[in-house]
Amino acid sequence: MLILGLESSCDETSCAIVKNGIHILSNKIASQEIHSLYGGVVPELASRSHLETFPKLLKETLKEANITLKDLTAISVASCPGLIGSLSVGVNFAKGLCSGLSLPLIGVNHVNAHLYASFMTNPHSIQFPSLGVVVSGAHTSIFSINSFSNIKLIGKTRDDAIGEVFDKVARLLGFPYPGGKYIEELAKMGNSNEYHFKDSIIKNSPYDLSFSGLKTAVLYTIKGKNSSMQPPFPKLSEEKKKNLSASFQKAAFFSLVKKISSILQASSYKSILVGGGVANNRYFQNLLKTTFECPVFFPSSQLCTDNAAMIAGLGSVLFNLYNKEKKVEPCSFASWEKM
Ligand code: KG4
Ligand code: ZN
Repeated sequence: MLILGLESSCDETSCAIVKNGIHILSNKIASQEIHSLYGGVVPELASRSHLETFPKLLKETLKEANITLKDLTAISVASCPGLIGSLSVGVNFAKGLCSGLSLPLIGVNHVNAHLYASFMTNPHSIQFPSLGVVVSGAHTSIFSINSFSNIKLIGKTRDDAIGEVFDKVARLLGFPYPGGKYIEELAKMGNSNEYHFKDSIIKNSPYDLSFSGLKTAVLYTIKGKNSSMQPPFPKLSEEKKKNLSASFQKAAFFSLVKKISSILQASSYKSILVGGGVANNRYFQNLLKTTFECPVFFPSSQLCTDNAAMIAGLGSVLFNLYNKEKKVEPCSFASWEKM
């Protein structure tokens, strides 16, 4: 089974070929550098860039995988959630290919695919039920995973995603977008006890999270009370930047770990699957591995950030499922969630 995966939910254009759900023959990712000029993703520019990039990226992907379009079994595309214009480019590119080649099309949930990326990296070690944790620039969500066709949302951020807050704090410290990795580097040299940022509590929703209070607390520490996220940003000493990074990083991840702990106390899970760009953070990886008794799994670095291999991988699982249920027909949408 050879599945072509297409990903364009935000600012990465990606094409991948995956064999039998886990063997990656090619996974090409084109990151859109243009957004760093604006300090965040500009949706209109993202859509245009996907439109330009897909045809040539697909050619390169097929070449690297050493196959032709005729060898494909099905096409899988990220169909939700994400920027509507960006998703539309990928979905319509996929629809065109499927109707030209008479192939089935499988729409895949991008967030669920982040969890599948963790499985793809560790396919033989994971036991279910598993607690899924997605930490990215757009999402911070916790799931109960019985299988990859049975994923239930347990809790999520009420406001900013954790990666978004890393990016905003990085901007305040003078780093380009996306800035999460710079915070991690600076934090290694800082004192995480220098600043005390309080955890947010959400009444009546014990498993939901909130990061906007932490973002504002860092902002006020840097620019003063009632200031705004807009420039100009004050010049800070290297020492202060390091200590702020370390204290912020600790507060953000401790808040998530506290939430995971309370879920694990209430229900039993055999493993934890983590996914999304922020899962690249080594401090976070070590914190989870040392805090919890059950095994914690992360995707490889390339599969943490947005990529099409995870879309093709989860597409393979759904393709098998729908095939069994006789739902797969050429050019049909075998599985489709609202965009
Ligand atoms: O999953 P992803 O590529 O895109 C979304 O679906 O949003 O995640 C990108 C996010 C950005 O916010 C980026 O700053 C963050 O992941 N990120 C990190 C690290 N590497 C990437 N955040 C903290 N520490 C890192 N090492
Ligand atoms: Zn993502």
